Amino acid sequence: MSDFRVGRVRATAFAKVTLSLRVLGRRPDGYHELEALTVSVGQPHDTLEAVAVPHAGASLEVVGDDAMVPQDEQNLAVRATQQLLLSVGRAGHGVQLTLRKRIPSARGLGGGSADAAAALLAVRRLLEVDIDERRLHDLAAELGSDVPFCLGGGAAWMRGRGELLEPAPLPVGIPMLLVLPPFPIPTPSVYAAWDEMGGVRSRRVVQAPRPVADVLRELANDLEPAAEAVEPKLRPFRERLEEATGRPALLAGSGSAYVVLADGPRGLPDLAQNLSLKIGAPVAASATVSRGVRVES
Ligand code: C5P
Repeated sequence: MSDFRVGRVRATAFAKVTLSLRVLGRRPDGYHELEALTVSVGQPHDTLEAVAVPHAGASLEVVGDDAMVPQDEQNLAVRATQQLLLSVGRAGHGVQLTLRKRIPSARGLGGGSADAAAALLAVRRLLEVDIDERRLHDLAAELGSDVPFCLGGGAAWMRGRGELLEPAPLPVGIPMLLVLPPFPIPTPSVYAAWDEMGGVRSRRVVQAPRPVADVLRELANDLEPAAEAVEPKLRPFRERLEEATGRPALLAGSGSAYVVLADGPRGLPDLAQNLSLKIGAPVAASATVSRGVRVES
């Protein structure tokens, strides 16, 4: 391979938090039409390292104790790498990925999608792939509904299946606690339950504090009743959480993670630690960040 380059690119893949999610209906393709206000947050995050290797194809090593994370082509980061190489006629090139997982799977935080977006941007940098933003976005949309958002990140309205993005004027540094229940919830089961329940709209509405209220005053998640039907432990968990914090909790995407918006960053790590002890689940002190992926050479 004449233009094989030795190199290494490291990327940080930030979790995605859905502050509000309206499901507008089921589409003929089986997906659902959405309107969601979504932000990237600094914690938790995964890191992905991409190294150029002399044998063709993408391989992956996952570091971390999440048994649900596949190491093969089932992993979106591997698929993203393969699709990118294929689409730009570089299928003969080789990339070894190392993924350090901290965003837990099936908690509604878009971890797999963030990893896929990180792989697209890291491999583009690593192999100096010439691809314009439009094609990269289309490639992301083929990989999964949340991947286009994760590619750009920040704060955005997600519409359509998730691929239609409009920047939302929210600042970085909005403080929050991210609560990670010990049980996963598979996204397809939640959407299927939403269908079976006749397309429910969530009746639970949370008044947004500022500065979120400047963009959207009432936050609701239409997937919450469906997620509670799929996982009966979810509602009692939320009730304990809300009692412990004295604040309303927002379900992240299709669950099971919850977000509690905080007044300010001061003392947030201590609050997270105390809350974690009280409810017996990991809690991250987090805040909004300006992008979905940070790439470093
Ligand atoms: O696009 P992605 O593969 O990430 O979606 C995972 C699952 O979530 C889909 O199989 C579908 O069940 C559901 N989904 C949906 N409508 C969306 C996004 C996801 O029904 N807009």
